[in-house]
Amino acid sequence: MGDKIRVMFTEEEVDKRIREVAEQINRDYAGKQVHMICVLKGGAFFMCELAKRINTDVSLDFMSVSSYGNSTKSSGAVKIVKDLDEPLQGKDVLVVEDIIDSGRTLSYLLELIKDRKPESVRLCTLLDKPDRRVCDVTVDYCCFQIPDEFVVGYGLDYAQKYRNLPYIGVVEPE
Ligand code: IMP
Ligand code: MG
Repeated sequence: MGDKIRVMFTEEEVDKRIREVAEQINRDYAGKQVHMICVLKGGAFFMCELAKRINTDVSLDFMSVSSYGNSTKSSGAVKIVKDLDEPLQGKDVLVVEDIIDSGRTLSYLLELIKDRKPESVRLCTLLDKPDRRVCDVTVDYCCFQIPDEFVVGYGLDYAQKYRNLPYIGVVEPE
């Protein structure tokens, strides 16, 4: 409370980009069922808005992960806190994330998902910070590439706050 937040993308700008990305997905998955996997908690707001704009069949599943131990020396290994409910075999999986930063979490998660033999796997993210990448991950769909700044809103938190902001912003130091 009381932090000053500078708007990076307004609600209208985010909405417009999500519609554009949804159109891309609609073209690519025409006639198929998209099995969306949301990485909790950050991906939840984005996945809901995206899923509403998909016009092919959609099924949803959720997973929650936390990184092991000390994040500065992170191996990228993540602990599954909540696993998926459904098997992935034969499904066209679309992983939906809030942000790709170092890429450690996603590169680990994508391997784990591929081991479950889906028909295909693609990655869709609301935000991408390419300057921070340590692990190579292929981003198939991205709403915005951003510079190396810590952002909040639209699912993204700072100490669990600000996930509910309807726009994306940067917390300004006092
Ligand atoms: P990485 O790609 O494995 O480094 O980690 C990505 C995760 O770090 C995201 O799913 C977010 O939970 C968190 N994260 C990275 N950058 C930000 C940010 O700018 N704001 C809020 N959370 C972030
Ligand atoms: Mg996340």
